Amino acid sequence: MASELVRALWVLKPRFVTHIDEDAIEAIRNFYDVQFAQAPQGEYSVLDICSSWISHYPEKLKAKRVAITGMVEQELAANKQATEFAVADLNKMPKLPYGDSEFDFVTNVVSVDYLIKPRDVFAEMHRVLKPGGVAIMSFSNRCFFTKAINMWVQNMSRSPADEGVGGA
Ligand SMILES: C[S@@+](CC[C@H](N)C(=O)[O-])C[C@H]1O[C@@H](n2cnc3c(N)ncnc32)[C@H](O)[C@@H]1O
Repeated sequence: MASELVRALWVLKPRFVTHIDEDAIEAIRNFYDVQFAQAPQGEYSVLDICSSWISHYPEKLKAKRVAITGMVEQELAANKQATEFAVADLNKMPKLPYGDSEFDFVTNVVSVDYLIKPRDVFAEMHRVLKPGGVAIMSFSNRCFFTKAINMWVQNMSRSPADEGVGGA
């Protein structure tokens, strides 16, 4: 119980850090740039979930609406590209605080592995996306064993080929 409390407090403490290195950030930013360029400039809406003080969006982002949601209010308030933010713990309540079909893009950077109800959250992403909208999930090779859900860490010693995934 005490360790749960320590963990909860640690998770909620604002951390103005980068979770991936500069090359990874640049790769994500460039990928977003290519994707966002396909939308009408100045007209599209993006939502970053499990967000923080940075969303890794291109510097010259031409979105009309940049919504972000995450757990730590101070981090979200410091995000300079966001036009709005909402605090939401998607493990307590796997519901995105937005209406249906509001966004052209939903993004999530290196945080899917913290979600204990990923199917519900993905259904929510689908709900808030406009028809034909795009969800972009980014993953890294860094893993915090104490924070990632069990499904992500239980078979870490086995290769994908052992699971019949990606093997020849
Ligand atoms: C590794 S950080 C990544 C932050 C940000 N996406 C980035 O790339 O810098 C994980 C993020 O997931 C958020 N998070 C963790 N558990 C969450 C939950 N249950 N609901 C919503 N956000 C959560 C944390 O607040 C944190 O901002």
